[in-house]
Amino acid sequence: MADAADFYTGIVAESYAPLKSFSPEPDPYAAFVRAAGEPALELGCGDGDPLLALRRQGLDVAGVDSSADMLERCRERAAREGVTVTVHHQRMEELRLDRRFRAVFLAGPTFNLLPDDATAEAALRRVREHLTDDGTVLIPLHVPAPTPARELGTVRAAPAADGAELRFSMVSEERDEAARTQTAVLRYERHRGDESTVVERAWALHWYRRSDFERLAVAAGLTPVSVTDADGAEADDDTAYLTFRLRAAEPAAG
Ligand SMILES: C[S@@+](CC[C@H](N)C(=O)[O-])C[C@H]1O[C@@H](n2cnc3c(N)ncnc32)[C@H](O)[C@@H]1O
Repeated sequence: MADAADFYTGIVAESYAPLKSFSPEPDPYAAFVRAAGEPALELGCGDGDPLLALRRQGLDVAGVDSSADMLERCRERAAREGVTVTVHHQRMEELRLDRRFRAVFLAGPTFNLLPDDATAEAALRRVREHLTDDGTVLIPLHVPAPTPARELGTVRAAPAADGAELRFSMVSEERDEAARTQTAVLRYERHRGDESTVVERAWALHWYRRSDFERLAVAAGLTPVSVTDADGAEADDDTAYLTFRLRAAEPAAG
């Protein structure tokens, strides 16, 4: 498994919706798109939260994700719910679309899945390339807390569509403060009658202090217009949950 861009495939994509612990509320993202303007693009849209809710509200929003399996689930959900949606199978750090967007956003701290600063800067450059000169980018980030030891091995279970039992647990976690990276080994299981599948995958989060991320954004041609904490107050280098709003530093060349 190369990195998080490949993590959400197979049993992980199947387990994602039944076992997920967090679903982004669509309203803040709908409000962001209404304020920033359309068309809009959600990066890391996965199986469609909150992308499909925004489409149901009539907003012109497309999605991008690196996992074909997650996008397949997104398309199936959209068809079931009678919603039309355009999604692109691409990595955000290699984004190449033939459109620019007035609003580009990630819903929740998906940007923390990019493995290092160089990949993050590449993604920010691609975002700038796809932003209209008057466009706005919304990027939530967090500094993950170490997982308490007592939670290692704790199993979460849910039924799959075919009645199999899906299980998830964290096996181990390592933290590298200098690299700003935390890597967990996650175990996914599927049990049905005599058939069992058990897969362990490494899941890495890379985090940023406010100043780290600001430096990358500026290098990529983006200017922060606000950096806030979870309560909407000005964030600093100790803030654990940051939301960056960014605009183009200069009009695009040509
Ligand atoms: C935590 S899920 C969030 C999905 C959805 N927005 C939600 O909240 O339910 C993160 C998504 O980001 C995608 N992803 C990870 N790395 C990516 C990358 N480099 N480029 C594009 N998508 C990526 C994964 O495939 C996955 O679908």
